Amino acid sequence: MSVESKLRAVTTYRLIEMKQSGERISMLTAYDYSTARIVDAAGVDVILVGDSAANVMAGYETTLPITLDEMIYHARSVRRAVRRALVVVDLPFGTYQGNSKHALASAVRIMKETEADAVKIEGGKEIIESVERILCAGIPVMGHLGLTPQSIHKFGTYAVRAKEEAEAEKLLGDARLLEQAGCFAVVLEKIPAVLARRVAQQVSIPVIGIGAGGGVDGQVLVVHDMLGITNEFSPRFLRRYADLHGVMTDAFERYSADVKSGSFPNESESY
Ligand code: KIV
Repeated sequence: MSVESKLRAVTTYRLIEMKQSGERISMLTAYDYSTARIVDAAGVDVILVGDSAANVMAGYETTLPITLDEMIYHARSVRRAVRRALVVVDLPFGTYQGNSKHALASAVRIMKETEADAVKIEGGKEIIESVERILCAGIPVMGHLGLTPQSIHKFGTYAVRAKEEAEAEKLLGDARLLEQAGCFAVVLEKIPAVLARRVAQQVSIPVIGIGAGGGVDGQVLVVHDMLGITNEFSPRFLRRYADLHGVMTDAFERYSADVKSGSFPNESESY
């Protein structure tokens, strides 16, 4: 990547340009200042303050318990770190499904209190009124279809979605609806690659996949998963770029042993 394109701040408009020119979009999650700084400096285009923070930061089984205040805390930490990437923040469960006024109030809090660039919302037709109202306030919205983890109790499983024709057709319709409403991009999670490619070909906005194959406009992964910190989580779609679980365990074990043996600190590490 050239120095110029690395320094150019990523906007929603730029992402659409990238789709048009065939340049793939890279997106990763981050939830804290130090990680976001590294992700941004590495040239990743979009940083998602995902509600997966509920799993990887807080240790909950699902994404449902995380609150708007907690998401705002994570997003503020990330925002302070980021110079180039577009910062998108998940609206957590229960903050937009009830009615569109509530949805707008939640999105406004995120934009005002975190200075993020956009929000992300799970769902299609069922929440389109909320999407439209948020967009009317000038807040960019990223959609999220397919496996939408906030609906895990309805699905009952984290298995691949939209394998059947009826669900696939609904997903295509929802993607078009989000595009028509004015969303600047949509995430497709854990659906057949053939369907994801069809969606990417049929909508003009960027389609970012996670477990949706290579025929889309960009990819997103949860940073703890791709770094190998969450070593017990091994879905087929995950490519691990590091084994930080191993690296960290080794460091913690050696530190503990050094403290117990009295070899840390030594003279040169003392005042
Ligand atoms: O919360 C999250 O990390 C997400 C990604 C998996 C897309 O929504």
